[in-house]
Amino acid sequence: MMNMRKKIGISLVRTEVYDLLKEEILRGEIKFGQRLNIRKLSKEFGISPTPVRDALLALAAIGLVRCVPRVGFFVTELNENYINETTESQIMVETFCLEKYFDEIKNSPDILKIYDEAKEVVNTKSRKLFDDSDQNLHMLIVRSSSNKTIIDFYEKLWDKMDLVRHLNKRYLDSNKEHLLIIESILRNEKKNAVESLLKHIENVKNETLKNLESSKVTE
Ligand code: NI
Repeated sequence: MMNMRKKIGISLVRTEVYDLLKEEILRGEIKFGQRLNIRKLSKEFGISPTPVRDALLALAAIGLVRCVPRVGFFVTELNENYINETTESQIMVETFCLEKYFDEIKNSPDILKIYDEAKEVVNTKSRKLFDDSDQNLHMLIVRSSSNKTIIDFYEKLWDKMDLVRHLNKRYLDSNKEHLLIIESILRNEKKNAVESLLKHIENVKNETLKNLESSKVTE
């Protein structure tokens, strides 16, 4: 019994460290390429090194952190290859789901809710609201497949895409593109919807590649 309680405690600490580090990386407070020292971090958090190490391994599993054997952990350097790989995977999953599960998406009550959110972003220019509605739209497209394997894959990919999205300063343009996608879906124009989605993902990628230079860590 005691043993069980202890295990739960450690996993909670690890989750907390994981969430904190992930946020700091996504907010740019920890720079790309920066070393993450286990001993230093465990001192700062006031905890033992084990949950810190576990959290770093979990971050490595989603690609935010790179583990170099016998050297240590580093924040993944966002490079062209990373952006191209995540974008290609996003296109693969989302266009497949939009084409195959178009009716499920069109008939989902969520699509109208997301349409309202996107219109609200136009009025308020709220970045936070955009981030939420962005996630809602892209997730709706994939979750409409009801395919657990695809959804699991996509949720892991989403964490990687978060890093790409964070750089992106073009959210109001992205929001306009979301409106085009949603309106095509609502008008039952599958081909236009898929084309608009493709263009949207490509535009985000190109903007991210352009911003890449300015975000690199200089040491
Ligand atoms: Ni989007």
